[in-house]
Amino acid sequence: MLTIYRAKDYKDMSRQAANLISAQIIMKPDSVLGLATGSTPIGLYERLVKRCKKGDLDFSRITSVNLDEYKGLSPNNEQSYRYFMNDNLFDHVNIQKARTFVPDGTEENEEKACKDYDEIIAQVGGIDLQLLGLGRNGHIGFNEPSDSFPKGTHCVSLTQSTIEANQRFFEKATDVPTKAYTMGIGTIMQARKIVLVASGTDKAEALAAALCGPITPQVPASILQLHPDVHVFADEDALKDVKF
Ligand code: F6R
Repeated sequence: MLTIYRAKDYKDMSRQAANLISAQIIMKPDSVLGLATGSTPIGLYERLVKRCKKGDLDFSRITSVNLDEYKGLSPNNEQSYRYFMNDNLFDHVNIQKARTFVPDGTEENEEKACKDYDEIIAQVGGIDLQLLGLGRNGHIGFNEPSDSFPKGTHCVSLTQSTIEANQRFFEKATDVPTKAYTMGIGTIMQARKIVLVASGTDKAEALAAALCGPITPQVPASILQLHPDVHVFADEDALKDVKF
């Protein structure tokens, strides 16, 4: 079942999504949260931090597993997703750092990195709530449009346009990651609850294709139509092409 929460704007979307994630933490204090990086969740992370600082939210028994990480980037690299998570959430709430998991970008052996991460997800008992952002091409995690839905964690080669877009963040072109480790679509679909956040007109086409179009690996997020418990928090701009 898919529920759409229509928000006025980014702020309103962040507030509503933070409410649902807060409710999850309150109702199940030992939840396993699947988390995302990117610009869309920043506003909701800010709200979770505020609530934790006020004493209204307790992360002490929470476990987290992130969607993805660049291959070759260490946790102290400011462009790594581990750094992003520390900076935007983990350093500001009472989560136990040892219970926060991100694929190991420093692991050279791709097969090992992916197998290890799938084992971690299995060991923590699977994901209670998976937070997702949406790519302009309908990607979720680093699962880009393709001919199939990958099941488990896998290593992806970044597209030339992604590599070029990332170049401005790095001193040398050779420092720019060309690959990433990402959770698979199968693992995402096994999460007991999914929260998708989308904001802005540049997400409108992808959101409409994901929610109303055919289910196809060419629009990876379209598979969410088959999940029993999806909550979509999107603002009016992102929802402009969604007609129900
Ligand atoms: C991030 C991730 C990506 C982003 C997506 C949207 O961990 O897996 O799929 O969620 O690219 O990014 P933003 O929110 O920056 O538009």
